[in-house]
Amino acid sequence: MIAVAPATGVRGALAVPGDKSISHRAVLIGAIGEGETRISGFGRSADTESTIAAARALGVRVDEPEDDLVVVHGVRLRGLRAPEGPIDCGNAGTLARLLAGILAGQQWQQFELTGDESLRARPMERIAEPLARMGAGVETEGGRLPMGIDARPLHGIEYELPVASAQVKSAILLAGLYAQGKTVVAEPAPTRDHTERMLRAAGARLRVSAGGLVTVWPADRLELGGLDVPGDFSSAAPFILAATLLPGSDLILSGIDINPTRTGFLHVLERMGGRISAFNRRSAGGEPVADLHVTHAELVAAEIGPEEVPTLIDELPLFALAAACARGTSVVKGAQELRAKESDRIESVTIALRALGIRIRERHDGFGVRGVPTRPKGGGMRTAGDHRLAMVGAVAGLVSREGVRIEGAEDVSISFPGFFELLDSVTER
Ligand code: S3P
Repeated sequence: MIAVAPATGVRGALAVPGDKSISHRAVLIGAIGEGETRISGFGRSADTESTIAAARALGVRVDEPEDDLVVVHGVRLRGLRAPEGPIDCGNAGTLARLLAGILAGQQWQQFELTGDESLRARPMERIAEPLARMGAGVETEGGRLPMGIDARPLHGIEYELPVASAQVKSAILLAGLYAQGKTVVAEPAPTRDHTERMLRAAGARLRVSAGGLVTVWPADRLELGGLDVPGDFSSAAPFILAATLLPGSDLILSGIDINPTRTGFLHVLERMGGRISAFNRRSAGGEPVADLHVTHAELVAAEIGPEEVPTLIDELPLFALAAACARGTSVVKGAQELRAKESDRIESVTIALRALGIRIRERHDGFGVRGVPTRPKGGGMRTAGDHRLAMVGAVAGLVSREGVRIEGAEDVSISFPGFFELLDSVTER
């Protein structure tokens, strides 16, 4: 349990840990690549530790010479070796789903994937079905982990994603590297494209065409070499919101990944009246990167629909808090996917914010929030085992009248172990 007291502002300059999505992918693609992949700026977290452990369990040597430097010694595309027991993916959905795509290509071996209680409750049929269509033997427990993968020769498919999910898209693209013929994935709305960028950088033949079509051809070799992981936008987002909501704020966040498939929260805040500017634009690890300058702004309500949802899927709980402090009624629609995250985020964010005196109403596919441009009362809330809820609780504490007690605050370590300390270092009271 951590108590966060009201604040007057957040001020100064900071950097957040390396992007979690990119760190997972760099280890996995490095593992099936040629030679050494040096990953600097690696985003250390419980989730990415699970990925390193999984790679090691599959016979890959991973060195960690420095805290944020990870060196993966690739075993080439078909060099992974099935361990005796199941591979534990911990809490990490990205690991379970992307790794499943890679394992499906490790011909004539059998693997089993499992995870913690939260991950074992999350839907896996969405990857089991397309991988089986490609020729893999896949067995789940009623569509959930544990999942058995019997790797057999694969063939390319044309697949229309039933849900806008970068994890599902990535699983199919990675399996496509091993398939005979090309594999085409169509997405209903643009989702994060880190896999596409990284596979291209590693030399895979991949085409992205209009209408959300991604085509990948079989690969003989991948070579990533080195990669500098930019700061995680999802870890920057709570700081961006705190700076926007607190009147005495002036904050600089350096080296943040501003890939347009990730920065929906920035655009929504701008629509609401937020003052965020990006400068020092550059590129790192094949991704667009910038420093962000955020100052206080009065917000007005916003509406978010299904097309935009994937670009701020992990920031929607923070959006609920932004909406609570904005003038007018905000609505999120077409975000059923939130129910399939580390917690049912529609339910958990509604319960948590209501407990703090915020007027939020659950919808089947999102939520509605009646905002008042004064500080919410505060009180006690629970994270429901979900790291993103812990961060929402922290920002809520800063902007509240009475402070917020967060039960389960330690869950932040899933994506951002030093979060509370870093927040404290820029907070003024
Ligand atoms: C992720 C994709 C998103 C996101 C998750 C990370 C990724 O999930 O919520 O935190 O790294 O590909 P979905 O693709 O299932 O929406």
